[in-house]
Amino acid sequence: MKTLIAFSSKHGCTVRCANMLEKQLDGEVDKLNLGINKNWPDNLEEYDKVILGSPIYEGSIVREVNQFSKDYLDELKQKGIGLFICGMREDRMEQQLDTNFPSELHETAIVREYFGGAFRFKTMNMLERSIVRYGAKVDKDVSAIREDKIQDFADKMNAS
Ligand SMILES: Cc1cc2nc3c(=O)[nH]c(=O)nc-3n(C[C@H](O)[C@H](O)[C@H](O)COP(=O)(O)O)c2cc1C
Repeated sequence: MKTLIAFSSKHGCTVRCANMLEKQLDGEVDKLNLGINKNWPDNLEEYDKVILGSPIYEGSIVREVNQFSKDYLDELKQKGIGLFICGMREDRMEQQLDTNFPSELHETAIVREYFGGAFRFKTMNMLERSIVRYGAKVDKDVSAIREDKIQDFADKMNAS
């Protein structure tokens, strides 16, 4: 049983979540950071399950995760799928999950979940800082990763 976690991250939170998830999954796990590693595989045939993970910026998953989910859609539809997002708008999480990723993957997904998120000012540019300061009304680092949800996600993937 082999699982791929394909994800991306701008400021590191989704990387941390992917690492936590990897530790909780049974069997062999590969991770592919789609933002850093541009050598995407020719196909996904070696994987039984594929997990797609992305942070949410301005309501959307990041471009490379969207691209991956479309490029490999035919293969992904045949796999055990898990979808997760990281974000800080807890009130919008259901909606942000529903409106991102291709609809076919929502229909077949074993589990869909949000893992919380984090604000890390040191790595943000000026525009991001002001969006967070004036939009979210937050002016210092916050970490709100939901380890309980990551564990629950892994349990469901392992049981399938
Ligand atoms: C400019 C900006 C816009 C954001 N927009 C959203 C959003 O629309 N919805 C949301 O839930 N979180 C939003 N966030 C919070 C990020 O999704 C959160 O910080 C996440 O943990 C980032 O993941 P990363 O560190 O892997 O990039 C935003 C953060 C920034 C800096």
